[in-house]
Amino acid sequence: MANDTQLFQAIISHAKEYGFIFPSSEIYDGLQAVYDYGQMGSELKKNIKDHWWKSMTQLRDDVVGIDAAIFMHPTTWKASGHVDNFNDPMIDNRDSNKRYRVDHLVEAHAETLKAAGKEKEAASLVTAMESLLAADDFTGLKKLIEENRINCAVSGTCNWTDIRQFNLMFATEFGATSGEEDNKVYLRPETAQGIFVNFLNVQKTGRMKVPFGIAQVGKAFRNEIVARQFVFRMREFEQMEMQFFVRPGTQQQWYAYWKEQRLQWHLALGLPAEKYRYHDHIKLAHYADAACDIEFDFPIGFKELEGIHSRTDFDLRQHQEYSKKKQQYFDNDVDPATGKPYGNYIPYVVETSIGLDRMFLAVLSHAYQEQDLSTPDKQDSRVVLKFPPKLAPIKMAVLPLNKKDGLPEIALDIINTCKQDFRCFYEEKDSIGKRYRRMDALGTPFCVTVDYQTKEDQTVTIRHRDSMQQERVPIARLRDLVNEAL
Ligand code: GAP
Repeated sequence: MANDTQLFQAIISHAKEYGFIFPSSEIYDGLQAVYDYGQMGSELKKNIKDHWWKSMTQLRDDVVGIDAAIFMHPTTWKASGHVDNFNDPMIDNRDSNKRYRVDHLVEAHAETLKAAGKEKEAASLVTAMESLLAADDFTGLKKLIEENRINCAVSGTCNWTDIRQFNLMFATEFGATSGEEDNKVYLRPETAQGIFVNFLNVQKTGRMKVPFGIAQVGKAFRNEIVARQFVFRMREFEQMEMQFFVRPGTQQQWYAYWKEQRLQWHLALGLPAEKYRYHDHIKLAHYADAACDIEFDFPIGFKELEGIHSRTDFDLRQHQEYSKKKQQYFDNDVDPATGKPYGNYIPYVVETSIGLDRMFLAVLSHAYQEQDLSTPDKQDSRVVLKFPPKLAPIKMAVLPLNKKDGLPEIALDIINTCKQDFRCFYEEKDSIGKRYRRMDALGTPFCVTVDYQTKEDQTVTIRHRDSMQQERVPIARLRDLVNEAL
């Protein structure tokens, strides 16, 4: 593979060709930065989600899970600061009074340049826009628009206002009457607020003692302005978040703990350490007293995969103020400094927040390999997805050598015995070699071939995806063999 851009394109094509990810509403030419997960992708995604959920909740006794609604009372977003601060830049044309998102305006101009055969100018314009956007340099952005003579499509002039902020939340309306501000609700831009507003519900009904955590997996929506990196940056995506409620003053030690724990979670999946790095935030949000990203080496470079944030008591305090309902916890543990119980306080929060789609992309891009298998006599190659077995969409494919002579029946029997334990797949079309290649391309760790010998001695061939080694094993051992690998 010549370079990372080509590798990224190859992964995107592979994802589509093998049923992992399709552009949303593709028959209508798709919807920008929205994707559908296909039959293989939804399995892989579910396996990642289940693995996270199990390690964050089932395997710990201090974290429980919830599933809050996507719609929340609109005041939630006022309290959290999203209504006032969750913004992106936009610009107005003074002659037509038409308002544009800055990225849309520049991208539309880049498309015109491309159509005129000026590919390079188009690409450098978009690159310049992206770096100015990343730096929040609105003066520079306006200059870019003016220097490139980007005109309003309606007035045809380049008479622009200064650039202003545009809120990233999607709004919609509740109830039958439209257009009234009171009916306005938002699609949540993060799942975290569903956890904060349920802090006391969970603490009281679950008799939870601080420190404890609440985990959640769910959809989030952001009207992203730079949304061109496949599932890395989407307008509808999924987050796996956990808020860990701690005693004030202990947040730095819990922050260090979760920073380490989360990296270990990634490494335990078998993803190599050199693909990860921490990026500690120097410039902190006003409510945070420490924050970092766990970055992954995607084909588009090292980028944020997960965030660990020490959010102080900001969110609970804000909700207390806006709801006028106390968000306090009574801690009856004795403070050794005073000899008295710690008493009432608003807990501090350490958050871990990972994008499920980004984790999907990390797993997929790391798994993707193009291998040259040529020998002096024969040219050969394969594309293989080396997923960790526990995440693979299909764990075991069962392939009868022939469509007749009772071989399919034996293969289906094997599937019936194993399918309660793990996902199996039956395939009888094409030669065995082609079927192996197809299973490699789907990342299936084990292929079982049923042949004529099977009828005699109840053994099958099991082929290992990564080594391509084959061994003969009794049918009776298959289930345990695969279960052990998982
Ligand atoms: N509650 C904290 C929070 O939402 P964030 O850094 O904005 O923090 C957390 O988002 C994670 O969600 C990111 O690390 C990323 O993995 C994922 N994420 C954020 N925006 C995304 C988008 N537009 N598309 C896909 N994943 C996204």
